[in-house]
Amino acid sequence: MMVFVNRKGTNSYKWDMKPERAPEDLISMWVADMDFKSPEPVIKALKERVEHGVFGYTFKDDEYFESLIHWMRSYHDIEIKREWIVPVPGVVFGIAASLRVFTEEGDGVIIQPPVYWPFFSTIRENKRKIIENELVYENGTYKMNFEDLENKVKDARAFILCSPHNPVGRVWNESELKTLIEVLKRNDVFLISDEIHADLIFKKFHSTVEFYEIYDKIVVLTSPSKTFNIPSLHIANALIPNEDLRKSFEDYVHALHLDMTNPLSMMAMVTAYKEGRKWLEETLKYIRRNMEIVVKWTESKDYVDAYFPEGTYLLWLDFRKTELDSDEIFEKLIKSGLWLQNGKNFGSAGNGFMRMNVATSEKIVKEALQRINKAFL
Ligand SMILES: Cc1ncc(COP(=O)(O)O)c(C=O)c1O
Repeated sequence: MMVFVNRKGTNSYKWDMKPERAPEDLISMWVADMDFKSPEPVIKALKERVEHGVFGYTFKDDEYFESLIHWMRSYHDIEIKREWIVPVPGVVFGIAASLRVFTEEGDGVIIQPPVYWPFFSTIRENKRKIIENELVYENGTYKMNFEDLENKVKDARAFILCSPHNPVGRVWNESELKTLIEVLKRNDVFLISDEIHADLIFKKFHSTVEFYEIYDKIVVLTSPSKTFNIPSLHIANALIPNEDLRKSFEDYVHALHLDMTNPLSMMAMVTAYKEGRKWLEETLKYIRRNMEIVVKWTESKDYVDAYFPEGTYLLWLDFRKTELDSDEIFEKLIKSGLWLQNGKNFGSAGNGFMRMNVATSEKIVKEALQRINKAFL
């Protein structure tokens, strides 16, 4: 059963941090984690492991790899091979490592803003060059701009895909992914595919790993962290079908001694992939209802629009009718007691938008809408 919890007092980014000038009773709907307990079987497995009381050096066994293969097959109908899997401590780590291993300083890396802001910072921090291939927003949906991509791809060495896309909520369809992969292949550009939101979907998901026979200069990054609300357990997996590329990546992870195993994280992942599906389906239903509440509410407002995303638990609220800059919208909302993610954090293409995380209780969602109303009265 899905259980909502008050997370205050747990060093939570979301509930225990506050921007300046925020009121005491601030509602927080920014960072992408959920206010729900992880699936009961995961908690039970962790309790039993903790009760054992010894946390000596541990290795990843067959069950670790088989649980991911089983999950990809049973939930997504996608076949992956055991040897492709390289465990990593996080998806952003996997992106940074891919940049380090497969590109060089100064190389151009394409991203599609508005997009998850660590894509920008990871490229910058690793001394690569950001190339922006902005998404196009038309009739309440975002599309890739392939014409612009064809112009820019010649200056690029790598491309970071967000699939499903945070913050706009697109679950890219097979034809979009195929077109993208063909462009990258023609231009010999390496694909880093961030698929952390892959399980949080309201339609069929396609992974770029399904195209490995067409193009195998790819690293796909996947994780149970968003799906089962265990992001601080830091567990993720890279899927790299090409053996030589995989070896280079593995050597890099090993050289940093980041291929160690945390038994609790491993236990959480294996149990979640084996026994977490029912919880996930229930949780997605609840999230969908919260989305309906917000989208319906915006229909009667003349200053904000919203649409149903195809995946993620994030809503991308369009405040452009207010003609205010996102910083001003952010300040207004904070003053009225609501912390949403500033759209400009996702690049200038996000100006005028705010991202709202609805993986919380219906009560909080409804209170948040009242606070938005108060801010724009
Ligand atoms: C698209 C995307 N990638 C990666 C992450 C974070 O991944 P990790 O915590 O495994 O580094 C997030 C978290 O919000 C995300 O939205």
